[in-house]
Amino acid sequence: MAPMTRSRAANEGNVPTEDLHVPYYTQRASAGLIITEGSQVSKDAVGYINTAGIYSKEQVEGWKKVTKSVHYKGGKIFIQLWHVGRMSHPDFHNGELPLAPSALNPNAKSFTPEGFKDTVTPKAMTTADIKQTVEDFKNAAINAVEAGFDGVEIHSSNGYLFHQFFNGTSNNRTDEYGGDMENRTRFFFEVLDAMKAVIPQEKIGARFNPSLNGMFGITLDEETIPTFEYIIKKLNDYDLAYVHLSEPFNDVSNVPFAVEHIAKHFRPLYNGTLMINAGFDQDSGNKVIEEGNADLVAFGKPFISNPDLVERFGHNYPLAEWDEDTFYTPGKEGYIDYPEYDEAN
Ligand SMILES: Cc1cc2nc3c(=O)[nH]c(=O)nc-3n(C[C@H](O)[C@H](O)[C@H](O)COP(=O)(O)O)c2cc1C
Repeated sequence: MAPMTRSRAANEGNVPTEDLHVPYYTQRASAGLIITEGSQVSKDAVGYINTAGIYSKEQVEGWKKVTKSVHYKGGKIFIQLWHVGRMSHPDFHNGELPLAPSALNPNAKSFTPEGFKDTVTPKAMTTADIKQTVEDFKNAAINAVEAGFDGVEIHSSNGYLFHQFFNGTSNNRTDEYGGDMENRTRFFFEVLDAMKAVIPQEKIGARFNPSLNGMFGITLDEETIPTFEYIIKKLNDYDLAYVHLSEPFNDVSNVPFAVEHIAKHFRPLYNGTLMINAGFDQDSGNKVIEEGNADLVAFGKPFISNPDLVERFGHNYPLAEWDEDTFYTPGKEGYIDYPEYDEAN
């Protein structure tokens, strides 16, 4: 099950709850591996309303109930660790600017408590800010272990903080975190190295969206794909749980510098377990594995409306449609009220 923000932690401390998060993830325990919604590693890391965090004691206690229940049903669950960087808004930070590699506005929208607002020009992180954020990820990994997660996934995808460091159009730093590929990826590897000191690296996954373009403030340039090739080759020196890649989120056939077939392009570069996502159904998922271009397929939206997606695939049952209007709304509706197939029929 692919990581999906569902904005149901609508409480003061952004704590996952027994009423909502526990049943939601438990209903989906047969997924094989659940990757949770992106969960902010600190107060600075947040950028959307009502997203759950993994930095406070209360949040750890809330997640404990989720992992216990998923484990009781025989499932495995990783938590996705998230920092949105410049995709946030001052409304989340008492009027202070969000943090980013450079003071470059993504010219996107931020989903604030008062609705969608234009993003602002963020504050370029100081070296101290970067070191603090490395610590925040490390602490989040410690918290994840304490909360009973089977592992963690670094959200280095979809135009958020790590992606902002990787990409030349969002990173114009002149210090050791900007410039060449080694510098633009330094922050990611510092976080990974700090995390593997506190959680076995076999329990760490990392997610990338190499051909993301024209979304989340990201524009591809000639160095973007080579930078992802550099990262993924370097990850051969690690022993991670998996690398999780997304096929392009939109049509990139005419986009300069884009790779159209991500699994096919990156599979030969990576020796470890490769997970692929975005737009797969049962047939195309089986095909990508049969062709040897991935080891695992993550399904997102199909899991929103089919808690028993695995059983439905197994029996060739029809799938229920998801309702986009309730992706991010508070409460049970569109969250824990999608029935299993047998119940529905
Ligand atoms: C409601 C919703 C929330 C999402 N939130 C996240 C997230 O928190 N982290 C992430 O990496 N991707 C997120 N995504 C992207 C999904 O993980 C996945 O890449 C996308 O839905 C495409 O896969 P699919 O075609 O199987 O749905 C989200 C997608 C949706 C629909």
